[in-house]
Amino acid sequence: MTAPVPTLDQRPEPGGAGCLLEVDDLRTSFRTDRGMVRAVAGVTLNLERGKTLGIVGESGSGKSVLARSIMGIVPNNAEREGSIRFEGTEISGLSQARMREYWGQQMAMVFQDPMTALNPVLKIGRQITESLHEHLEFSKEEANQTALALLKSVGIPEPARRLKEYPHQLSGGMRQRVMIAIALACGPKLLFADEPTTALDVTVQAQILDLLQFQQRERFMGMILVTHDLGVVAGRTDHIGVMYAGRIVETGPTRTLFAHVRHPYTEALLQSIPKIELPSHSRLQSIAGRPPNLVNTPPGCTFAPRCPYAQDRCREEEPPLIEAEQPGHFHRCWFPVGTPANPAYNAEASAEATARGEATFDRIAAAKADAAREDSTASAGFAPAPTAVDGEADADAESSVSAAGAGNVGGIHNRAGDDDAPGGGRPRRRQPLRARRQTSTTDNGERTDGR
Ligand SMILES: Nc1ncnc2c1ncn2[C@@H]1O[C@H](COP(=O)(O)OP(=O)(O)O)[C@@H](O)[C@H]1O
Ligand code: SF4
Ligand SMILES: [Mg+2]
Repeated sequence: MTAPVPTLDQRPEPGGAGCLLEVDDLRTSFRTDRGMVRAVAGVTLNLERGKTLGIVGESGSGKSVLARSIMGIVPNNAEREGSIRFEGTEISGLSQARMREYWGQQMAMVFQDPMTALNPVLKIGRQITESLHEHLEFSKEEANQTALALLKSVGIPEPARRLKEYPHQLSGGMRQRVMIAIALACGPKLLFADEPTTALDVTVQAQILDLLQFQQRERFMGMILVTHDLGVVAGRTDHIGVMYAGRIVETGPTRTLFAHVRHPYTEALLQSIPKIELPSHSRLQSIAGRPPNLVNTPPGCTFAPRCPYAQDRCREEEPPLIEAEQPGHFHRCWFPVGTPANPAYNAEASAEATARGEATFDRIAAAKADAAREDSTASAGFAPAPTAVDGEADADAESSVSAAGAGNVGGIHNRAGDDDAPGGGRPRRRQPLRARRQTSTTDNGERTDGR
């Protein structure tokens, strides 16, 4: 059996040049009438500049709470512990007022549902320019020009007209593009994308994910892509953290994780990725059972009640993070799949599973690389994108408009009284946004601007 290790070992030198985000033993619990809900139960992760991390897990596994906890956007009934270092500076103890200095310029978030994240009573242009000329001290003209360029860069046709429209006049895909433009406006170094395509139809989903990937490379941002679909992160992330019941149960470089899956939960997630070769009416395999109650989590491995390989030890002792054979690969399982420790181990089947995992990864990654190449050809730099990008009509302009507070910084909509979306931050340091526009990257992510 492999040796237990307390934390992920692949992190760069703490505070070193490559290190953007280091999270250590982060725990977020909510006080509720039912007791403490332990939504994030000790997460350790790190991210280098210009790299992408996929956080994958079923609904309720703690992905959004993790992302929001790192950004410091937690409601009043939350208790947060652990360390969060951004560019080597500890930020976990900062007040919301101090965190607002980070929102927009340092880190920003693209939310799942743009309709609730955008301010319905403010024109699109105002929602972008407000953070530019207030927080980056852009003149009105500079802010307008930058907003126009941002809308073009996210593939919005007729951007000058769109600047004067309200969110309800745009389609779901266009609204999400606007959200991305707002999140990018102040040139964040770290972008969270929390299930950014869940509310969109399938063809638009791929376009939005390609756009995020393109922008991440173009701007050399760190990106944390949160999703319930392991298929989404193949070919789009460098590293994956699989989350279950508030913990990372398996983590590793993306291809390694596909090819050498060790945790039974990851194995189940992999089996739920649709296969091209199956007829379209084939039923997808879903994971039997329900996630555990986060108020009274049973002892031992939290996946045991659903795990086909569970043994007595699993119900008694919680597995620590264990180092696998491949570099940077860790899991929390006493009887990892694909190893002789697993009760169902079969060397031949295991080799087949590795080949199948590699093939799945390569198939998905190749399809995405093709799409991304087309996207970069169409929208390199700030060039205008083709019309009808989303392949869907604009939303019905007769939708009702409800009242809400004002303010939108780094994609955080500031609704009065909304605990979950405090927003309205006022980052003051001027960011060389226009210089960033010249930065470009090659296909393998290397910068070509010489910096
Ligand atoms: N404000 C809150 N109060 C109490 N429980 C919460 C709150 N926000 C989230 N939770 C709980 O935390 C758990 C993780 O939620 P979440 O991070 O949103 O899951 P995911 O994004 O993976 O679907 C869930 O059980 C959810 O019900
Ligand atoms: S520790 Fe046991 S119950 Fe948990 S995932 Fe591994 S085999 Fe399954
Ligand atoms: Mg979520």
